Amino acid sequence: MKILGISGSLRKSSYNTAALRAAQELLPQGVTLETFDLSPIPLYNEDIQPFPDSVQRLGERIAQSDALLIATPEYNHSIPGVLKNALDWVSRLPNQPGEGKPAALFGVSVGRFGTLRAQLHLREVCVALGMLVLPKPELYISQAEGKFDAQGRLVDASTRERVRALLEALIAWTQRVS
Ligand SMILES: Cc1cc2nc3c(=O)[nH]c(=O)nc-3n(C[C@H](O)[C@H](O)[C@H](O)COP(=O)(O)O)c2cc1C
Repeated sequence: MKILGISGSLRKSSYNTAALRAAQELLPQGVTLETFDLSPIPLYNEDIQPFPDSVQRLGERIAQSDALLIATPEYNHSIPGVLKNALDWVSRLPNQPGEGKPAALFGVSVGRFGTLRAQLHLREVCVALGMLVLPKPELYISQAEGKFDAQGRLVDASTRERVRALLEALIAWTQRVS
């Protein structure tokens, strides 16, 4: 099974990107998790024709994957523009790669709510693209500073277990709905 990981943060020391790296360490045998960097995706503009290469590549990687794992930061109680912008591009691709794609959402914030509000919005957007969003478990990683070390490794044992549980649920969900 091939999972594609997408982080909604572009910064090098992103906790969300680091959480995807942790997920890569926690995969069961036979499952791979590669990530897609959203940095090259331009701002959506319907006048840009044909679709930019970076958008085509994202669409291809989604189409080739069995499931998605999206890690979102929370910006002002919602999804970062970077992630919404990428999903807007994907939603216009003629082959609709998001349609019917199993997807799990999670997120890391430095605040107390662990991206709860962003994930509620992200869930709705993913449903608009036809994704089959894993209903549970929900995973909100709050107060990130205490859970990652200086090298960006997720070191909090209970959070690592929750990431593992999310992966297991996504794998079972993908087998069930595919
Ligand atoms: C523009 C902006 C808005 C933010 N708004 C929120 C917010 O609403 N809730 C929250 O918990 N954290 C908020 N934060 C703090 C983020 O949780 C923090 O920057 C986090 O590290 C972002 O994820 P990253 O490490 O993956 O880049 C905000 C940060 C930025 C830059």
